[in-house]
Amino acid sequence: MKDWFAGRVAERYDAETADMPVEPVVDFLAPLAAGGALELAIGTGRIAVPLARRGIRVAGIDLSEDMAAQLRRKTADIPVAIGDMATTRVDGTFSLAYVVFNSINNVTTQEGQVGVFANAAAHLEPGGCFVVEVGVPGLAPLEVFDLSDTHVGIDERHPGTQEFVSHHFTLVDGRWERNSVPFRSVSPGELDLMARLAGMTLRERWSGWDRTPFTAESLKHVSVWEKPAG
Ligand SMILES: C[S@@+](CC[C@H](N)C(=O)[O-])C[C@H]1O[C@@H](n2cnc3c(N)ncnc32)[C@H](O)[C@@H]1O
Repeated sequence: MKDWFAGRVAERYDAETADMPVEPVVDFLAPLAAGGALELAIGTGRIAVPLARRGIRVAGIDLSEDMAAQLRRKTADIPVAIGDMATTRVDGTFSLAYVVFNSINNVTTQEGQVGVFANAAAHLEPGGCFVVEVGVPGLAPLEVFDLSDTHVGIDERHPGTQEFVSHHFTLVDGRWERNSVPFRSVSPGELDLMARLAGMTLRERWSGWDRTPFTAESLKHVSVWEKPAG
């Protein structure tokens, strides 16, 4: 399994995501995390570090040793297991497992995404919740999702297979660098079925962390599935 976040991608990650909202995400997650939180695809700890600062026990799983190294530079209090979030286990159970910022799309097969739900459920205590933030699958074969003086982002979609590739062109030290990363899109309904296979049921679905209603116009969703209590 290739690490698309190795090297300079990991080094630049925090600077390039510095404008993304963090507090609304932590406000949403913290009340669910009294029994500890497990972040799948924890990355550099963009969300996990501020969550842990609220006194919550946080652990993580990530494929990328370089992304985890960035997190370890910030804190020694968040253990990270290196491996695939569909199969990698950590010690203990949690009241919350979560995967944000479309990272479930990084798992590029249906079998793998089903495995992510099973793995999340296996780490949850009875009554625990699994939270996913992910975009609603787009339809345009090509879509520019970012355009600035230093970055151009283009999604290339293959709706028949649910594969898509995000092409990033980034201006670094006066030269344009390209990084093209493969993903698998997944609809809310397919995610609900994956949750059901893992023994969980949908509790909430919002259009964002501020709990705006999810509608036919929503471009993404924040969904909460629950493991049965006892
Ligand atoms: C866009 S980053 C998100 C990081 C962090 N969750 C955040 O919100 O900033 C995606 C992360 O997913 C990780 N990743 C990709 N595929 C993975 C897999 N199969 N298992 C575990 N982590 C994976 C990458 O290494 C990277 O750290």
